Amino acid sequence: MTRNRRWTLRTDHTGYTVRLSPDGPWAELDAWGPHGVETGPSALDWSHRTHFITPADAAPAEYLPYGLRPFTGADLIAARPGTERGAWWAFAGAAEEEGSLRLTFTDEVLGLRTVLCYATVPDTDVIHRWTELVCTGDEELWLERFDSAAVNVPVTAGARLTYLAGQWSQEFQRTQLTLSRGTFTMGSRQGVPGHAYAPWLAVQDAADPGDAPAYGVALEWPGNWHLTAEAEPGGAVRIRAGRVPHEGRVRLAPGDTLTTPRLACAFSAEGLDGLSRVWHRFERRLTGERLHRPRKVLYNSWEATAFDVDAAAQLELAKAAAEIGAELFVVDDGWFTGRADDTGGLGDWHPDPVAFPHGFGRFVEEVRALGLDFGLWIEPEAVSPGSALYAEHPDWVYRIDGRPARLVRHQLLLDLGRTDVQDFVTATLDRLLTGHDISYLKWDMNRPPTERGRPGAGPADHLDLDAQHVAGYLRVLDHLRTAHPRVTVEGCAGGGARVDHATLARTDVLWPSDNTAPLDRLAVQYGFLHAHAPHVMSSWVTDAPGVFDPRPRSLAFRFVTAMCGVLGVGADLRRWDAERRAEAAGWIARYKEVREVIHLGEARLLGSPLDATCGVQYDGPDGRTVVAALGTGRLDGAPLVPGRPARLRLRGLDPAARYRDAASATTYSGAHLLHYGLPFAWSAGHDAELVVLTRQ
Ligand code: GLA
Repeated sequence: MTRNRRWTLRTDHTGYTVRLSPDGPWAELDAWGPHGVETGPSALDWSHRTHFITPADAAPAEYLPYGLRPFTGADLIAARPGTERGAWWAFAGAAEEEGSLRLTFTDEVLGLRTVLCYATVPDTDVIHRWTELVCTGDEELWLERFDSAAVNVPVTAGARLTYLAGQWSQEFQRTQLTLSRGTFTMGSRQGVPGHAYAPWLAVQDAADPGDAPAYGVALEWPGNWHLTAEAEPGGAVRIRAGRVPHEGRVRLAPGDTLTTPRLACAFSAEGLDGLSRVWHRFERRLTGERLHRPRKVLYNSWEATAFDVDAAAQLELAKAAAEIGAELFVVDDGWFTGRADDTGGLGDWHPDPVAFPHGFGRFVEEVRALGLDFGLWIEPEAVSPGSALYAEHPDWVYRIDGRPARLVRHQLLLDLGRTDVQDFVTATLDRLLTGHDISYLKWDMNRPPTERGRPGAGPADHLDLDAQHVAGYLRVLDHLRTAHPRVTVEGCAGGGARVDHATLARTDVLWPSDNTAPLDRLAVQYGFLHAHAPHVMSSWVTDAPGVFDPRPRSLAFRFVTAMCGVLGVGADLRRWDAERRAEAAGWIARYKEVREVIHLGEARLLGSPLDATCGVQYDGPDGRTVVAALGTGRLDGAPLVPGRPARLRLRGLDPAARYRDAASATTYSGAHLLHYGLPFAWSAGHDAELVVLTRQ
């Protein structure tokens, strides 16, 4: 057996060094941080004198089974039915290539091969980690826990954890705690990542003042998941993450391989601010070539008309939207038969002939004739109990024999793990997308699985329904990409309940929250942008009053907030007077001039919504810097120091360069902007600005 071997994976600015432990048959983290950090004694070395536990229980182990690590939390719990749980493995070899590493461990008694997999993501500071589990014996295995990876972060006085928590309409609230002892867990059993927590975590040493170097993880899984941080006896904080099977365990038949979802692991020496840019860059890469497709300014009629969809009203809205500069018109829920409200219609995806008396085709053409692209909302996994689809295929929904099928939002959920359901969804999408000139699809999902069973499919614990649903969902999204490459896909799940890297890799934009109220939205976006890139963040200007923060804000505030990502409008434009429409047209025109900087540039969060002035700075590839500045303070706009304007310090600029704001005919030195900041003279009614600086 090979002992004391080390391997280093290198990203653009970071190194991740793994070694075989001197204490037993496992791999452990030696160093993770900026280039060169691996030279010197490991910061994760421990005293080896930890009493009452095994060395594996205190080691900064990369992945360990229950058996070898019996006391402090294992990453894998495996057993043959009827035998003791646990694996006791031996190192069986390493395979290293440029940017990748595979470490193999085997348990001959159990008949299990475990491969720890690592791959760097080119042009980013992200390393993917996942695990392959192979049943090598001739008896099946039960896997009760099969995390993707464990990640160790050395801390000196506890860990500062930053996570994104919330609820429906209040997703992505940036939340922090200090973990000095014990365990912190978040996750979802809702079949989607959920509104309550994002599958994303940042870890810093709580002893470091200010914005200390930050480690981050994000799980690529749009189903059930957990992410657990534990203060370990060896002094590190250890993060475990993985999917959570609905049945409590999964079966691995002889010869079968289970591949876990990938855990993306990121590091930035520049704290949470730098870490957010690492994730942004990673997501720009996920988007691939589609990044360079301009994200069109959308109008969505949901908040204006809700279920009351008819051609005349929609066309009136479309005309007004085109006049202010929108490029795309999306009809949301309510366009199909039986959908007078949220109690019916789902599953019968046929345009309502009463709503479109001259035919849906003609309606789409009329919208297109206004110079707008056309888009449609759909909730492919949903079915209403009164629908024709349900009458025909009652067996397609999740159900447990002998148990009631509860309704959530008056609807049931299709079992998308079934291939016949996948085929139905694919055929429905193909029919709609080829039958009409549709270039945008909003894929929604508004109810989690409750009675999750598949009657007649054999023993429930042989199914792994969560993974099957995810596979079906990804298969249909992949089909959309290949069969309808020109269609832009917006992901949505009752707001932001399905935001993860697997979804992001197959969609163009995501809807972070149903809450479009100005200050509420700002808080959602502030959290969202810590983990996700501006080019995926769909945002609308609406008339919504504040829900959680009711202070009114100007139209400018709504526009500048929505411009921080992909701008849309969702207000009832029929009620807007000419002056308001003209102001909106002005904002949309300005957005079109700078959207490339916002979507392709490097973004920096300036302050937080708790500050009286906050914003986002975007440094574009063309030398332009765009600052979206928002006054969140008092209603009368009074500055903190009377008579002196608020300031927003910029970051990352060249102190010696000069930056010109043509709109105000002001030139600043980089040093001035870095040291004093951009001035904003807020007043009542003037609570937002978009500043464009051009490097001279
Ligand atoms: C969900 C979505 C909304 C809207 C409604 C329609 O709540 O998040 O944006 O599409 O459904 O019913």
